Amino acid sequence: MTATFQPHLRRDVAVVVPAAGAGVRLGGGQPKALRPLGGEPLLSRCCRNLAQAPSVGLIVIAAPKDSVEFVSSLVPSAHVVAGGATRQESVAAALAAVPAEFEIILVHDAARALTPPSLIEAVAAAVREGQEAVIPALAVVDTIKRVDEQGRVTATVDRAQLRAIQTPQGFRRGLLVKAHAAAADSHTDDAGMVEQLGAVVHTVPGHPHAFKITTPLDLVIAQALLEAGQCE
Ligand code: C5P
Repeated sequence: MTATFQPHLRRDVAVVVPAAGAGVRLGGGQPKALRPLGGEPLLSRCCRNLAQAPSVGLIVIAAPKDSVEFVSSLVPSAHVVAGGATRQESVAAALAAVPAEFEIILVHDAARALTPPSLIEAVAAAVREGQEAVIPALAVVDTIKRVDEQGRVTATVDRAQLRAIQTPQGFRRGLLVKAHAAAADSHTDDAGMVEQLGAVVHTVPGHPHAFKITTPLDLVIAQALLEAGQCE
């Protein structure tokens, strides 16, 4: 049988993992990325899922400043840099360490530790197929309202047009670098910076397991999913 070239099996994607957050909302007195889930830190579980995606050729982690050595020993296959004071600064620090040969870059929160490799691959594939910016999106289930400073409702937003956005977010390298260089205010995701440049950001279907582990309840849910054998 003749071997055929399968572009999706190229390890041509670098993933930047911001993991330098304090995790105040989660509690526990240690950086969130290092909190254990099923006996394993969130960060190493997250990186295992990334490494299982056939496209991923490099992982660069932005770690808490005083945990760079520890994180290097926890995930020896990754390159580790010191993170910054905000998520945006942490992403910028890791992005600067990605070798120029990687044209496709994914940015993925360490806190989304149960993200299935299939979602990582879907985002990478969409960028490889020609979209400059790709993000996973889920429909919003709650009714969303705007409130004023006193907590009084000022508007009900049309839910049909709303999406909750996850990571990994995938970009052509040049666009992401340009967006970080141009960003003035602080953004909670990378697609926000790219939107400010006027670039089109595409969505792919998100996955419920890619939720961000933020509160103690999220840890309970994540633990239950693992125990039920629900994760890829
Ligand atoms: O704070 P938030 O939950 O939005 O953080 C999302 C991700 O960004 C987490 O994985 C966290 O570790 C990371 N982060 C970072 N550097 C910061 C703040 C957050 O890498 N200064």
